[in-house]
Amino acid sequence: MVTGKVNAKILRAIEPEETEIAVEEAVRLLRAGEVVALPTETVYGLAANAFSPDAVAKIFKVKGRPSSNPIIVHVSSISMAKKCVRQWTTDAQKLANNFWPGPLTIVLPKSDIIPPIVTAGGETVGIRFPSHPVIRKVIDKCGFPLAAPSANISSRISPTTAEHVFKQLGDKIKLIVDGGPCAVGIESTVFDITSQPPRVLRPGIIHEESLFAALGRRIQPANSTDAQSGVLRSPGLLKKHYAPLAKLICMEWKTLDELMTNLKDLGCDPKYTRILAYSNLPQDLESWKTTLMPKTATAYARALYAELHRCDEEGVRWIIVQTPPHLPQWEAIHDRLRRAAAT
Ligand code: TXA
Ligand code: MG
Repeated sequence: MVTGKVNAKILRAIEPEETEIAVEEAVRLLRAGEVVALPTETVYGLAANAFSPDAVAKIFKVKGRPSSNPIIVHVSSISMAKKCVRQWTTDAQKLANNFWPGPLTIVLPKSDIIPPIVTAGGETVGIRFPSHPVIRKVIDKCGFPLAAPSANISSRISPTTAEHVFKQLGDKIKLIVDGGPCAVGIESTVFDITSQPPRVLRPGIIHEESLFAALGRRIQPANSTDAQSGVLRSPGLLKKHYAPLAKLICMEWKTLDELMTNLKDLGCDPKYTRILAYSNLPQDLESWKTTLMPKTATAYARALYAELHRCDEEGVRWIIVQTPPHLPQWEAIHDRLRRAAAT
């Protein structure tokens, strides 16, 4: 399947009847050991039977993913999660009570039922119970959990629509289930509770403060600003990730003059530049491509990858991002912007 060129079928799963057909087809392929792109509330995932090493190997091949990068296991119940881990702790239960189903991946010691290829040979497994009804239905009907990374070519921008998936993987997989645009828009928070204290390996829309509040603990001071070192503990979280093709630069500006001076210093050509403004979009920018981004962190997250995909489509060479606020709920967005800007 991975060798010969294929043309992915896109099945819509929005209305109940079409959803039933799409889910059935996805389940049929997954049972046959194939990979299928499925919607989740965060980003689209490239799913395979988590219990089948052969099926999971196809994910690595399709994405061009290094085998050292572990894959998250998606479940549709807490009892399924318990089967995948050696120990279901009280902390895990508290997190599940507060945030599942939803955009949180909990890292726990893996059970023997999870093949080593899923965890890149590691002793821990990331488990997520997504809230999107389509993937939940598919997992329920399969009866096995789904290993699923984001459905993009390794180190490119994660897809938040079925079209984004088609553009990157349309000639490599058989089926994309279209559940509409993702409601969250950036990847889940990855929270490792095997370490003491627990630590956020990848920030997401569920931020550190809420996680520690759910555990009834305070954040360790060293932990709160230690995003970089946390990142290193997660093999997949390389500095350059989620990268658009253009050069992305974050900057502040208060006036049009200030912005223009910056653009000139960088040598930006208006024809090949898109400006993602946050608070103010100065007037008189007719010759430049501009977007006024949403005001809240949740709406900004939902819009961000679609904007970056659009920049790739337009073939712009510079993406100028007005730095959003430095507040806890914006941490995941700063993280993704930092990675997109890394060269
Ligand atoms: O929102 C999401 O999490 C999406 C959707 C599809 O669920 N999935 C996703 O998967 O973003 P992926 O593979 O693109 O990113 C998962 C990240 C990787 O960087 C990986 O290294 C890390 O989580 N990860 C997975 N299992 C881990 C583990 N056992 N220990 C540490 N990090 C882990
Ligand atoms: Mg990814």
